[in-house]
Amino acid sequence: MSGKIAKILIDEETLRKKVAELGKQISEDYKDKKLLMVSVLKGSVVFMADLMRNIDIPLRIDFMSVSSYGSGVKTSGVVKILKDLDHPIEGYDLLIVEDILDSGMTLNYLREVLGSRNPKSMRLVTLLDKPDRRQVDIVPDYCGFVIPDEFVVGYGLDYAEEYRNLPYVGVLDPSAWQGQDA
Ligand code: IMP
Ligand code: MG
Repeated sequence: MSGKIAKILIDEETLRKKVAELGKQISEDYKDKKLLMVSVLKGSVVFMADLMRNIDIPLRIDFMSVSSYGSGVKTSGVVKILKDLDHPIEGYDLLIVEDILDSGMTLNYLREVLGSRNPKSMRLVTLLDKPDRRQVDIVPDYCGFVIPDEFVVGYGLDYAEEYRNLPYVGVLDPSAWQGQDA
């Protein structure tokens, strides 16, 4: 499998340090708040799991699943809710946890949907940000790494549902998707 990884963009140690930094900052910023972390499945589960263990204040978690992509590398432009949150968010200080902010279409939609449910506040943490590809005006409140416009996998991120288990963030070799409809 790793034969299809052209290069490692962010290695395990670099990820670990950055996630610890983000956790520390979030712990400070939310110490007198009602923190509710909402992870957007499935790409952000690895980041969520590591980030929450680096936060040392009381918190709750919930999960949501939306789809904006087909199985390939390009956006379909369609965002729909596949799984909604289990609990109401009214009165909570919501922190949306994303794996990657790309066009921003997904987050733009989520902000509208979740914002209308009256959270006390709403912020966004993303592990990766690809600002070159942004189509809507979204700036993350917390960001791990700004990366160039390359398709990345690993640490939760997939290509056609694979590669999520890689412990690092890598760039997929173009041969991995050649001949497919991506
Ligand atoms: P956006 O709506 O274009 O911002 O899309 C965000 C979603 O697209 C992410 O949550 C990922 O699931 C997916 N995505 C965008 N870029 C990449 C990438 O480089 N690798 C893997 N998934 C990506
Ligand atoms: Mg995906």
